[in-house]
Amino acid sequence: MPNNFPTVRPRRLRRSPALRDMVRETTLAPSDFIAPLFVGEAETRVPVASMPGVFRLPVSELADEVRALAALGIPAVMLFGIPNHKDAVGSQGYATDGIAQRAVRAIKAAVPSLIVITDVCLCEYTDHGHCGVLDEDGIPRNDETLDLLGRIAVSHAEAGADIVAPSGMMDGMVEAIRNALDAARHTGVSVMSYSVKYASALYGPFRDAAESGAQHGDRRSHQMDVANAREALREAQLDVDEGADFLMVKPAVPYLDIVCKLHERHPELPLVAYHVSGEYAMLKAAAQAGWLDERAAVLETLTSIRRAGADLIITYYAAAAAQWLRSA
Ligand code: PBG
Ligand code: ZN
Repeated sequence: MPNNFPTVRPRRLRRSPALRDMVRETTLAPSDFIAPLFVGEAETRVPVASMPGVFRLPVSELADEVRALAALGIPAVMLFGIPNHKDAVGSQGYATDGIAQRAVRAIKAAVPSLIVITDVCLCEYTDHGHCGVLDEDGIPRNDETLDLLGRIAVSHAEAGADIVAPSGMMDGMVEAIRNALDAARHTGVSVMSYSVKYASALYGPFRDAAESGAQHGDRRSHQMDVANAREALREAQLDVDEGADFLMVKPAVPYLDIVCKLHERHPELPLVAYHVSGEYAMLKAAAQAGWLDERAAVLETLTSIRRAGADLIITYYAAAAAQWLRSA
């Protein structure tokens, strides 16, 4: 052979499906997924307009829904309760018989082994749609909100939640919730902190689903500026120090640099990435228009989130992706 041909040939390892399988660095499996569930107080399921294929479910349909998810090998759900009655302090958030609490009990009764994670924030329960109780300027008050988050978390634990997930980006929320849980003897309930949650435009469809859009103003006084990366390290470190059991980055794909950084900085904790409503809506819309191969695009996206360093992915595609992986 003439010696100007390459001797180093990465393509050797791509020659056959078996070789490619053998050297694959990242795995994707149904056990990596957390399926979000919206539960409402209507009698029947309500489609979410901006998220085709996603529904707000009545409690009566939860048993069938979670049996199907568990049968697909999905280990956990992330629950959002959307009450009919909303008020200034979000009192339905910690009501013993609130929608989230009833939903947790229904899920646990149907599939006791399924891990139930509950979103802990005020915006689903307040009439103004903000993530905390407001000051005179309409900005969420930090410390007064912490007390309410503690009460919500304890009420979810009482109903049987395994993990509570504070999503409101209040300072000290992990510590406040940990203390409240421990004081109520729920020392075994974990905290999955939405550690690094950006003030993203990609939550729009979720706010449709949860009817949780702020009536006025926005969330930039507590969610992170999309332009900041160093600040993400500070937020994550605080959550570790406050006793978080999981770290999370949200949204996922536009923030894979942050996922990668947290994976390197905090190998001690499981890392979760939230592939949010707007990321779902973009893929779904392109797929429905016939512009993308949905299966291929979604599996590529989810694999990339894992490759960046996420252990777990919260995604509205959980059930569909689990099915695609099974038939692969
Ligand atoms: C509540 C909450 C939100 C999301 C998860 N928990 C909305 C928000 O902060 O406005 C967004 C999830 C998604 O877009 O899929 N604080
Ligand atoms: Zn909120």
